[in-house]
Formats: sequence, structure tokens, C-alpha cells
Amino acid sequence: AIVYEWSGLTQLAKVLESHFGIQRVVVVPGDYNEDHTILSMLGKEAALQFMSAAFDEQVVAVTGGKSVASLAQFLHPLDGQKDITFVAARGGIGHEMQMQANTLVATFAMQMETQYRTLFLPEHLSEQAYQAMLTEPMVTEMMAFYDQADCVIHGIGSAEEMAIRRNSSPEDLRILEEKGAVSEAFGYYFNADGEIVHRIRTIGIQLEQVQNSEQVIAVAAGKQKVNAMLSYFKVAPKQTIFVTDEAAAKAIAAKI
Ligand code: G3H
Repeated sequence: AIVYEWSGLTQLAKVLESHFGIQRVVVVPGDYNEDHTILSMLGKEAALQFMSAAFDEQVVAVTGGKSVASLAQFLHPLDGQKDITFVAARGGIGHEMQMQANTLVATFAMQMETQYRTLFLPEHLSEQAYQAMLTEPMVTEMMAFYDQADCVIHGIGSAEEMAIRRNSSPEDLRILEEKGAVSEAFGYYFNADGEIVHRIRTIGIQLEQVQNSEQVIAVAAGKQKVNAMLSYFKVAPKQTIFVTDEAAAKAIAAKI
């Protein structure tokens, strides 16, 4: 029965793969909204996908959020010295220290006995502060890492939820709503057509750098993110591996 269930999920994954035009979709059984422990199955699958393709001196950019955090417990040192560097894809998000990219890269590196780079900057910078930061050696060094990113591991959020989590001002919330922002990934907000409608003014990986990286692993679950997923996958790079739960995958399949 379990074999049958997984083969049904494989079919479902294929439907999403061809619709989104991405490399691979992995669907884990169950409904994240009913059972939050499904997040660890997601993390396990994503960690396996990542570790199976890891290579020497790989640079891996990592964003924040609970979905990306779910990989941590499944990462372990790999045979041979892989010398991987985990790089925080951006500064912090609000107050959630446990789920910030900066915290996650340190945890991932500890699990795999490898290295990491952090970037501690405020989430919202004034135009003036942002311009000044661009010439800081610590920032230029991070930007060079983003250019070299071989892999990006990221979450996908609903625009509204992310804006609230980031303590966006009422003014910013209004702008996002006005511009029809539906999804958020690595600091970019996209509308239902997958067009960039807003970007947080902080130092972080650029969409072009994500597109240029060899491997992209997107981790997101829950039916409440379905519209966000449909929006983001309009722009997702082809080399993306998407790990999600059955309930979200079914809800997507019903809409496409
Ligand atoms: O960019 C989107 C967020 O990282 C998603 O966060 O995994 O905690 O829902 P989450």
C-alpha cells in the first residue's frame, strides 16, 4: 500500500514538473496543515537531494524560514573532504533568530563539519545606508560569494505573511497589496504572473545569481502557499528541485 501511495505521489510530482518546467518535484505524503511533523519529511528529502549532488568547494547560499531550517537535522558530514561553504543569502528577518539565514548557515555547517559565512545587516535599509553598504569590504565579499553560488536552498512564502513577519510598515503593506504581490522568495516579491513587484532594500542574493547557480532547491509546504507557489514557479529557474507536501501538490494540480 505504501509503495502504491509513493507511486501516486511520483505521478503527481511529474504533473507539477512538466507544468512548472523544472528539473524535479519531490512530494512527501500528507498534509502539512494537519500535521506539522511533515516538515521533517520535507527537510529529509531536501537534505538528501542536496547531499547527493554536493561537491568539493561548493558554495551554497541559504535563505531563512522554517522550511529551509527543516533540513538541518538531516545534514551530516560527507565522505571525503567536500569543503563546502554555506553562505547566508541575506540579512536577518525580524526577530526570528532561530530561522534566520545567518543562524541556519552556522547550523548547517556544524552538521556537515564545514564552513559558513554570515551577513548581519538590518532587514530594511535607507537608500543612503544601502548605497554606503555596497562599498563595505564585508559586503563586497558576500556579493562575490553570491556570484559563485553553486547551489541555492530557499523557501517560498506568501507575500502577505512574509511582509507581516518582516514587520513591514503599513505603507509597505499597502504598496505590496497595490502591486498585487503574491509570493516572496529570497527578498523578492512577485505578482501572480511571476513578475517582480518589490524588493527589500537589503544586501542579498540577486535573482540573476540564483538563475546562474547550478542547483536550486526550493522547500515549501501547505495549502495556504499554493497561490504563492503558482506565482513563484512562473520565474523559478529550470534547474530547481521543489520539495513540497501532498496536500499542496494536489491543490496545485487541481488549479493547473
Ligand atoms: O521566503 C520565504 C520564507 O523563507 C518562507 O518561510 O518556510 O518559514 O514559511 P517559511
